[in-house]
Order: sequence, then C-alpha cells, then structure tokens
Amino acid sequence: MKKRILTGDRPTGALHLGHYVGTLANRVRLQDEYEVFLLVADYHALTRNAEKDHVVATRQFTRDLVLDYLAVGIEPAKTTVYVQSDVPSVCELHLIFSILTTVPRLERVPSLKEVMDAEHIEQPAYGLLGYPVLQAADILHVRAHLVPVGKDQESHIEVTRELARRFNFLYGEVFPEPDALIGDVPTLAGTDGKSKMSKSIGNAIFLSDDAATVEQKVRGMYTDPARIRADIPGNPEGNPVFQYHDAFNPNRDEVEDLKARYRAGKVGDVEVKKKLAVALQNFLAPIRERRAYYAARPGTVDEILANGAAKVRPISQETLDRAREAMGLGRVAARA
Ligand code: TRP
Repeated sequence: MKKRILTGDRPTGALHLGHYVGTLANRVRLQDEYEVFLLVADYHALTRNAEKDHVVATRQFTRDLVLDYLAVGIEPAKTTVYVQSDVPSVCELHLIFSILTTVPRLERVPSLKEVMDAEHIEQPAYGLLGYPVLQAADILHVRAHLVPVGKDQESHIEVTRELARRFNFLYGEVFPEPDALIGDVPTLAGTDGKSKMSKSIGNAIFLSDDAATVEQKVRGMYTDPARIRADIPGNPEGNPVFQYHDAFNPNRDEVEDLKARYRAGKVGDVEVKKKLAVALQNFLAPIRERRAYYAARPGTVDEILANGAAKVRPISQETLDRAREAMGLGRVAARA
C-alpha cells in the first residue's frame, strides 16, 4: 500500500511563489508516489478572525484555493481535495487529542505569539490555543506519514508527533508518527528583499497574477542598494532577484553568466530583471492555462470537494473507531 500524505492550507487568499517553492512543488511531485490528501482548513481560518464577514469570505477563499491547487498541477484523479468542516469526525479526534496535551505545552508553540501579535489578540481563544491540536487531528485522522508544509509549520508537526506518541503509549499503536517535508527554498524573500514573501506585507507575486502585474512587480524589485550604476560590482547573495533566478529560471547557464557579470559590474539591473520576468512568465504560463481551463468549468470545484469529502469520511470514521477501540470506549454504536 502507498504511504499517505496529508497537508493543506487555510483559505485566506491567493497563494504565491513562496508557497510554490516552500511546499506546493512537493505536493505536485509526490502525487504518484503517495496517496495524497489535501485539505482546505476552514475551521483553522476562523481561529484568527471569527467576524461574520470573514467567515463568509472563507467560502470564496475556499474556491480560490482549490483553483490555485488545480492551476499548479494538483490532479483530482490522484489527490483527494476536501474541506475540513465537511468531515466532522476530525473534530471528535481533536477532542480526544485535546485531552492528551497541556495548556503550557501549547503556549510554547511559537506561532501562537506571532498570530496574537499580528492580529492584536490579547487573550487567545481556547480554539486558537488548540490550533496545533486540530492540525494533529487533520493529519492523523487519515493516518498520514508525510506532511509537506512550509517551514513555519514545523512546530505544529512536532505537536502532531508528540500526540501520536502519547496516544500510542497510552492505548496502543494506532497512529504513525508523521514527518514534515519542507521544500527546496524554505524561505523565499519578498519582492522588497526585506522579509519573507507574505500576502499581508504586499511583497508577493501571486500564482494568479497576470503577465502585466508580474512585469511590473519584477521591475520594482529590490536589488543590491549599493549599486547605483551598472558598472559598480554587485552582490548576488542575499539579493532577491537572484534568489528568484535560482528558484525559477531553468536556464542555469544564463543565471551563472548574469551572476558573474553582476559581480564584475558588467550588467545592469534592467537586464537581470528582464530575464527574470521572462523566466517567471514561462513558469506561470502553464499555471495560467490550467486555471483558465478550470475557471471555465463552473461546478468542477464543487464536484471535486464533494467527491473529496465522500472519500475521506469513511477513512476518518475508521480511524476514529480504531482510536476509540484502543482506548476502551468501543466503536460508535450507530451512525448514519
Ligand atoms: N496550519 C496550516 C497553515 O497555516 C494549515 C493546515 C491546517 C495544515 N491543517 C493542516 C497543514 C494539516 C498541514 C496539515 O499553513
């Protein structure tokens, strides 16, 4: 039997190049080797902001996220895509796991403080504190072995591993201890060169950006600030334009030539950026084509999500039954 992958995202807006090299590339690449489950974590999205408007927006973001998945090459025939809240048995597993960890352990998860700072939250809700516990239930209700995620998620996968170990130690072996899989470029710089690419900072190139937008964002990118003229030697290291060349330009000779000339003060920023824009447009072209294909077929996303939920529900229920039996609670007696 194939090993399983479970991973996913909160539906909070468009995915960008950082997501691609951080995790999406791995998800697409491993579709044949693994049985892959991809979840849209709508309940998780609400832990950050539970305002009615945001809850409603989550529905549209869900569709956008699935289109992003399809656009980068996730194939619904291979990968099961579903919405978290369509599979309610995950919430029962979440409850069981919530009994097996402590409040101080969850208070030590670094993302908690980061989210509280970013969202100006003074006291975390019980649900926000329990965010990594729900994520553990997501991963373990399909008994996944591998979790391709961005680097920021490592501490959550650690909580998942601890919960699997704790459960298995107390009640017997039910859950695998899953590994995180981080992409080739764990941290892609933003176009501003200052921090990592992030939707909320306005330094992102989105997978759904049109050609003119990409052109314009590349033209405005931060480069080596010491280089006020093309004949001043520059530094490709730590320079986001070259980080993107490394990540997205398959023409290695061209990239090495540009770096050499940059170091020698023999190439202008304009040429380096023009070539990057070409590489990015080539990279995005098939993504745009697939997006257009699916966008022209309304109903496809709903169908994919309905099929996905129908496929995951029995797997999730089976896991829950195994867990309850191991605990001594017994199977759920009757369920429609
Ligand atoms: N916390 C993840 C993020 O913000 C989203 C997520 C929810 C997830 N459940 C998951 C990722 C399970 C991997 C596995 O990106």
